Amino acid sequence: MEAGGSRCVLESIDLDVASGEFVAIEGPSGSGKSTLLNVIAAIEPVDRGQVQVADVELSSIGEPASTHFRRSHIGIVFQFFNLIPTLTVRENLLLPLHLLKQRDGNRVDELLSKLELPDRADSFPDVLSGGEQQRVGVARAMIHRPSVILADEPTGNLDEKTGEGVMALITDAAREGTTVLMVTHAESAAARADRRLLLRGGRLSG
Ligand SMILES: Nc1ncnc2c1ncn2[C@@H]1O[C@H](COP(=O)(O)OP(=O)(O)OP(=O)(O)O)[C@@H](O)[C@H]1O
Ligand SMILES: [Mg+2]
Repeated sequence: MEAGGSRCVLESIDLDVASGEFVAIEGPSGSGKSTLLNVIAAIEPVDRGQVQVADVELSSIGEPASTHFRRSHIGIVFQFFNLIPTLTVRENLLLPLHLLKQRDGNRVDELLSKLELPDRADSFPDVLSGGEQQRVGVARAMIHRPSVILADEPTGNLDEKTGEGVMALITDAAREGTTVLMVTHAESAAARADRRLLLRGGRLSG
């Protein structure tokens, strides 16, 4: 919604993603990529049409069902990280597990080590670089082993080598059966997907 009226961001989207499939979504700035991920995460509602994710019908879902759906099924790597500033890296990563009443085991340290952030667990987000915050965001999206990972430009702030490390983790999750939808502008990241889609002016093409 914009001041003075509304505008349609996504139009005629017909997308069927198989369980365990890894899909890359490319497209110019403003084409609706983040909006599409937000709809699939039940963060933004749809005005028309149907959205079904992990057997949950989202078009008419309300609160608290949408929060429960998101917590249980979805891991989100936000384009602008969305880490909680008053929690340390470890506390940010433990939050999804606590909400699901699950235990950590060594998963926080395991993921931080794989993401080359082993000594950052007790830091607060504001002292981390953009790329470090992005990697914490990737760890938070995976920590509870969700069935669906939605990743919005997960390597956007990373150098090639660090980006490859993040992509290796995401690709491993997909190989293990996680459904992945990833927005990216990076050719090397998109090339890892099973399928590549282009979003332009709110319309998808293969
Ligand atoms: N809450 C909102 N209110 C009004 N307009 C919005 C809102 N959210 C998104 N838009 C508009 O919808 C369009 C799509 O935005 P979106 O963030 O999905 O684009 P994007 O493809 O992710 O772009 P980028 O590559 O720059 O991240 C843009 O024109 C944006 O201005
Ligand atoms: Mg975006």
